Amino acid sequence: MRIGIVVYSQTGNTRSVAAKLNEALSKAGQQVSLDEVKLAGERKGGDRTFTLGPLPELSRYDAVVLGAAVEAFSLSPVMATYLETIPTLEKKDIACLVTQGFPYGWMGGNRAVRQMRRLCEAKGGKVLGGEVVNWMGAGLEERIARAVEKLAELF
Ligand SMILES: Cc1cc2nc3c(=O)[nH]c(=O)nc-3n(C[C@H](O)[C@H](O)[C@H](O)COP(=O)(O)O)c2cc1C
Repeated sequence: MRIGIVVYSQTGNTRSVAAKLNEALSKAGQQVSLDEVKLAGERKGGDRTFTLGPLPELSRYDAVVLGAAVEAFSLSPVMATYLETIPTLEKKDIACLVTQGFPYGWMGGNRAVRQMRRLCEAKGGKVLGGEVVNWMGAGLEERIARAVEKLAELF
């Protein structure tokens, strides 16, 4: 299966989980690549005004993993805008990866996954599942490993 992992990661957390997932999927024999949603200019903190750079091209993939952070108890507006902008996700299996600072999913992570799911379904994608990685607190490495395993199992 050709799988594209596409992340928006401002401070590197989501990117680091995506890199581990990339490795796990590759070891499992999948044809996987990692790409990023980039911006045309600089973006500070939770700026809601930004311009997307060239969009990662998804047409060559059978499946797509989308990764982004929680911002203000919601999906990062950069990922939301990217998903609103892309033409289609028809015939693609989708998995969602969300990272958040706070230790509980109800502090934005679960909502961000729901938002991602809705946006993907609106573009015709079939969402297989989603994982939230909570960054704060002991045991981060184990939480990352568990999320990577669960996401990899979806394909
Ligand atoms: C502007 C801003 C708003 C944030 N709001 C939340 C929030 O509401 N809940 C939460 O758990 N974490 C929040 N965070 C923390 C990020 O979700 C967390 O650090 C995430 O792992 C960052 O991912 P990244 O390094 O891939 O950008 C926020 C971070 C920023 C910069």
